Amino acid sequence: MTAILEIKDLVTNFYTYEGVVKALNKISLDIEKGVTFGLVGESGCGKSVAVRSIMRIIQAPGVVESGQVIFHSNGDSTDLLKLSEESMRDLRGNQISMIFQEPNSALNPILSIGEQVSESFLFHQKKDMCAKVLANLNSSGCKTFVPWKHYLRFIYQMAAKNDRAFILKLLSRIPFFKWDRRAKKEALNRSIDIMEKLHVPDAENVARNSYPHNLSGGLKQRIVIAIALACNPELLISDEATSNLDVTIQAQILELFKELKKEIISSIILITHDLGIVAETCERVGVMYAGNLCEVADVEMIFNNPKHPYTKVLLDSVPKISQEGKLLSIEGNVPNLVTPPPGCRFHPRCRDAMDICSRELPATIEIEKGHLVACHLYLNK
Ligand SMILES: Nc1ncnc2c1ncn2[C@@H]1O[C@H](COP(=O)(O)OP(=O)(O)OP(=O)(O)O)[C@@H](O)[C@H]1O
Ligand SMILES: [Mg+2]
Repeated sequence: MTAILEIKDLVTNFYTYEGVVKALNKISLDIEKGVTFGLVGESGCGKSVAVRSIMRIIQAPGVVESGQVIFHSNGDSTDLLKLSEESMRDLRGNQISMIFQEPNSALNPILSIGEQVSESFLFHQKKDMCAKVLANLNSSGCKTFVPWKHYLRFIYQMAAKNDRAFILKLLSRIPFFKWDRRAKKEALNRSIDIMEKLHVPDAENVARNSYPHNLSGGLKQRIVIAIALACNPELLISDEATSNLDVTIQAQILELFKELKKEIISSIILITHDLGIVAETCERVGVMYAGNLCEVADVEMIFNNPKHPYTKVLLDSVPKISQEGKLLSIEGNVPNLVTPPPGCRFHPRCRDAMDICSRELPATIEIEKGHLVACHLYLNK
């Protein structure tokens, strides 16, 4: 299967007063096209830092120190860490979208819901729309439009540079051409469509007349998801995006991700604490511990045949209905990443630790097709 994203030896540190937090310790990972990839692990293990590093939205004091994030799209391969900030901005929310847990911080309280979802369409698809209008003008052969063709071509170029304020100014100067109104109407209709797909009740009314404060938390989160999906991203990253929804809505949205993956998005990275969601929704799973990837495999392999001792205890700590007595928990605490344990970072909590585990970081090996493990138990055998 071909990869949409190849992450190689990604290292991210945070330079804090307490010292350097070594949050990502040479992560390497492939996300295949058409796959929902679940990223799991205890709180603080680096899931959010990993996806934020991919999106290049790590803020100071964080620094992506080294590595490669190769994005494969339409036959091109681009190292996202080497892209200019301008090109990266164009790519974000367009080819790669990310949804966070907290919808309030993502929505503007003074814009209507319709305006906010439409804005995403208008902004990122302006290039397509300009190209479409240009093609229409060209094919209509209407001579009187010729000067406007140049004007639109200029706007098209500005859209490519993503200079939004300038584009809007230029568009508003076209006196006879109902560009702005037509584009807005089309964007609003598309917004209503996507909101209907996300089961927003009375989507048209919500789009036209509601503001974020009129909506419940679950509904707001669906609007944030609509904004993220508006541009048919090739890769959708969901960082605990459904965790604060009630279970029925969460199940509906996850079901919808599955449907949308077939028609709109090609791949999804799903970060969650809920292993039940992973089992239901994902095809591949990556297990992280203290800034390292311990195990990556197909979902059945992880659940039926986990290899890494950390994956095993993580699965054991999930409550089961049939379970009697005390719930198992993972002994010890997640290490301080300013002074992480040497060698394998899990060794102080590992039931199977050997001498070598405290000295050397285990290499990742493929122990069966598609099943990668970084553990000394399986090395040198
Ligand atoms: N701004 C920051 N300054 C210092 N350290 C940070 C910062 N952001 C993250 N970290 C550290 O990076 C490590 C990974 O954090 P991250 O947020 O990726 O964890 P996570 O796996 O997403 O956890 P959770 O499941 O709780 O969301 C943690 O040790 C955290 O303390
Ligand atoms: Mg997180």
